[in-house]
Amino acid sequence: MNKTLVIGAAGQIGTELVEELRARRGVDQVIASDIQIKNLLTPCYELDATDPDKVRKIVQKEGISEVYNLVAMLSAKGEKEPQKAWDLNMKTLFIILDLAREGKIKKIFWPSSIAVFGPSSNSVGAPQYGSMEPTTSYGISKLAGELWCQYYFQNYGVDIRSIRYPGLISWRTMPGGGTTDYAIEIFHSARRGKEFISFLGPETRLPMMYMEDAVRAAIQLMEADSEMIKIRTSYNLAAVDFTPAELFEEIRKFYPGLKISYDPDLRQNIADSWPDSINDSHARQDWGWNHQFDLKMMVKDMVNNV
Ligand code: SER
Repeated sequence: MNKTLVIGAAGQIGTELVEELRARRGVDQVIASDIQIKNLLTPCYELDATDPDKVRKIVQKEGISEVYNLVAMLSAKGEKEPQKAWDLNMKTLFIILDLAREGKIKKIFWPSSIAVFGPSSNSVGAPQYGSMEPTTSYGISKLAGELWCQYYFQNYGVDIRSIRYPGLISWRTMPGGGTTDYAIEIFHSARRGKEFISFLGPETRLPMMYMEDAVRAAIQLMEADSEMIKIRTSYNLAAVDFTPAELFEEIRKFYPGLKISYDPDLRQNIADSWPDSINDSHARQDWGWNHQFDLKMMVKDMVNNV
């Protein structure tokens, strides 16, 4: 009765998280689920995470004790359907929080994001505590969700753990509908020998992280002793920060012929509302977070695998 359920397992984080959890705990101990199971390996379920009865059934049938709930509509896609993004992001969170409140599951991981910050936040080294006025539906849902996580911890003792992820770079699965997606698309253009047209301007600096670090962080936080977790909203987490121009220069070391042009769209406004970099000293102090991939290592690994 100690299995792990990953909801949103076919997504950018889920794909690699499931693989790593299964390597550590055994394939049968980690149940993958998503709205479509096309790329998932068994044991897996097709699961509409907005349906409380369906989620509850799997939790009971499989004897789930911890849930990684990765379902979300990201920032750029969410601005096309703001109400839908809010509904999806909140509904899927509350279903899991309520199962934990009833004692059906013991521990929850739920990712938050740099999208909780806004124009009034410190742009350089945005602190854990400070002004947060997100301008996107995604960011509003993440900030509200963080506060609900803390509420369920304080009032019902729910063991919820969360990270404010920066933009995540990976090669196994494409992200869907984020503002930081350019930093993945550029590698695919480079491999195809195509000019890259960046939807963010050359000097748009954003906090970023390689997926291997992101997955390790989630598992490390979930395995940490409960007393070490001092923050029950969500921890700032940082690794690197760079601009499209800086990333381009680094990739050009491998693809000297790569060309770039800039054609900012609405996603530029979203990026401009987010900090350039994040201060994650609480995560480093409380549970020993340390990133491993810098820009050079990340680019090398991406080039080798994309
Ligand atoms: N990568 C996400 C996005 O761009 C941020 O959490 O929406």
